[in-house]
Amino acid sequence: MKVLVIGSGGREHVLAQKCSTSKSVDEVFVIPGNDAMTKVATVISNIKETDHALIKDFVIEHEIEWVVIGPEQPLIDGLTDTLADTNAKVFGPNKEAAQLEGSKEFAKKIMEKYNIPTAEYQTITDKDEALRYVETCKIPIVLKKDGLAAGKGVIVALTRDEARAGVAELYVTQKEKVVFEEFLDGEEYSVMTFVNQEYAIPFDCIAQDHKRAFDGDQGPNTGGMGAYCPVPHIPQAILEETNSKIAQPIADALVSEGINYFGLIYIGAILTEEGPKVIEFNARFGDPEAQVLLTRLDSDFVELLEKTYNKEPIQLEWKEESVVGVVLASKGYPGSYEKGALVEGLEDLDQYFVSALKLNENNQFVNNGGRVMITIGTGNDIEEAQQNAYAQVDKIKSEQLFYRTDIGHKAIKAKNK
Ligand code: AMP
Ligand code: GLY
Repeated sequence: MKVLVIGSGGREHVLAQKCSTSKSVDEVFVIPGNDAMTKVATVISNIKETDHALIKDFVIEHEIEWVVIGPEQPLIDGLTDTLADTNAKVFGPNKEAAQLEGSKEFAKKIMEKYNIPTAEYQTITDKDEALRYVETCKIPIVLKKDGLAAGKGVIVALTRDEARAGVAELYVTQKEKVVFEEFLDGEEYSVMTFVNQEYAIPFDCIAQDHKRAFDGDQGPNTGGMGAYCPVPHIPQAILEETNSKIAQPIADALVSEGINYFGLIYIGAILTEEGPKVIEFNARFGDPEAQVLLTRLDSDFVELLEKTYNKEPIQLEWKEESVVGVVLASKGYPGSYEKGALVEGLEDLDQYFVSALKLNENNQFVNNGGRVMITIGTGNDIEEAQQNAYAQVDKIKSEQLFYRTDIGHKAIKAKNK
């Protein structure tokens, strides 16, 4: 069969690679992909992710059997709906269901209604009211702009001054929709769940991302600077609690609301003193969580999609190894950065996935976005995997990239305690 992956980042690189190793798959296409994906897929760079009509024509013409949509934007823009009357099966929720990620308010309301544990919140749409609110609210407080912001519309204000500054930043006009959330203290972890209406199969291997730009969880929030799996210091019982209090209830809640969800639900969870709570839901795989989880996954990926589609029982198979992924990003990210700098040494790497590299006129790779690539290290434990991931980082030559030097530190610290 033929599979089409939508997207151009590292997550889509690993999705394409995983699909290419599925036994039922003959060919993998990726739209629009990037220049570093050609070893695992046929890259269709002349169709844009936003060209839904052209994507539909492509699906019909090439008799695609499965479409796997990587990023949130095409889901929220309704690509799944556009492809609904083709013969392809589409892994990724429709426009209505994708609001679970697209609207913080939608997600909060559904959690409130169905008693899914999350931070207390209120939505304030007027700037003056927000300014009054931050004078008296409990501090720390978290401010989240409604709608997609690629991890950048969230301000964790540790002081009242930071909260005031947050209001100034997020209310670009007098009327903006901003969710104000109780600050939750605890360790964050990510759970991916296959969902087909009431059928919900959470991965029994969790991952941990590193959201802040710099070592020691300092600096601004990013899309994610590195990830690892499994997370040995978060016990199985916590995962089971996450599943029974969050994963299954959200699938059931969507059904009760008459929303037809088919795809993946990413649970951004935090382990508080009161147990696991939801920080956010995403309507797709995490990036960079996908790169480490799918590297460790031993099961045939497309077979898993088929089983989810048919609501058949799933037993995920995992390799007996730990996986660490270190993101290399353009200096300046998540703010502004320069593109077009040489990135060399890729031929010496064992395992990596690329988010934003392109070939220049001399056929050399140059950076072309914020997060540029991720090196993958595997090993018997997180420490060994970490060493291997950084050994690969050392082989990359570029003046324009930076990375965190402590990916996996929480697992290593917990082990050495
Ligand atoms: P989000 O885009 O909602 O995932 O938020 C980005 C990051 O902000 C999260 O990964 C957390 O590190 C932090 N964050 C968001 N909401 C909260 C909260 N209620 N309490 C503490 N930290 C939060
Ligand atoms: N790594 C966080 C995300 O994909 O949203």
